[in-house]
Amino acid sequence: MKLDIFTLFPEAFEWFRSQRSVRNALGEGNELNLFNYRDTTPLGAGQVDDSPYGGGAGMVLRVDVVDAALQAAYPNGEAPRRVLLTPTGRLLDDGLADELVAEAHVAVLSGRYEGFDERVHEHFADDEVSIGRYVLAGGELPAMVLADVIMRKLPGALGHADSAAEESFSQVLEGMPEYPHYTRPPRHRGWDVPEVLLSGDHEKIRQWRLAQSRARAEQFESGAE
Ligand code: 6GU
Repeated sequence: MKLDIFTLFPEAFEWFRSQRSVRNALGEGNELNLFNYRDTTPLGAGQVDDSPYGGGAGMVLRVDVVDAALQAAYPNGEAPRRVLLTPTGRLLDDGLADELVAEAHVAVLSGRYEGFDERVHEHFADDEVSIGRYVLAGGELPAMVLADVIMRKLPGALGHADSAAEESFSQVLEGMPEYPHYTRPPRHRGWDVPEVLLSGDHEKIRQWRLAQSRARAEQFESGAE
């Protein structure tokens, strides 16, 4: 798939791009492209924002600036699914990530300041997405969160072919949290690895893991949410 991110801080994504799962996904022919609103702004001196009509604090990303960035990126009428990042959007979860990873082309609009001019929401966004009910200073971290959850689902992104399919909240686990993992040593400070995991009985292990996931799901429902 092709994932395009529009941002005022493309350099913030350098570390993200170097992650192994991202490099793997890119090696499989997927794309991660960064576009800086400043590079295509129709205004002078790299201006991208303006003070809000009606007064008030902060600056607003201009609609003409976002329009120009999209037109420059898609001169031939390409029509990616456009996801606008905003604290009040639809909450990102595994199901939304599955929906987006099924798209051939996704454009992520990341903002700063007090946000986008409302006309960007109305005319340039197919979806509005938030990563949680709190406000961050900008859309770069949400964009990386979104890109991470999408890209690690792409075939070949993870080392083991099945490791994304059977993780927490996945369809394979019926939306339940994942079972606990253990590795060597089998005993540390008297803390033992569950016997069943050392048994070599794959069917018993499968059932134990399912039961653990169910127990965690019940805990999750009664507690965290
Ligand atoms: Cl998508 N943007 C910002 N600025 N803050 C957020 C968010 C997005 N999601 C949660 N908080």
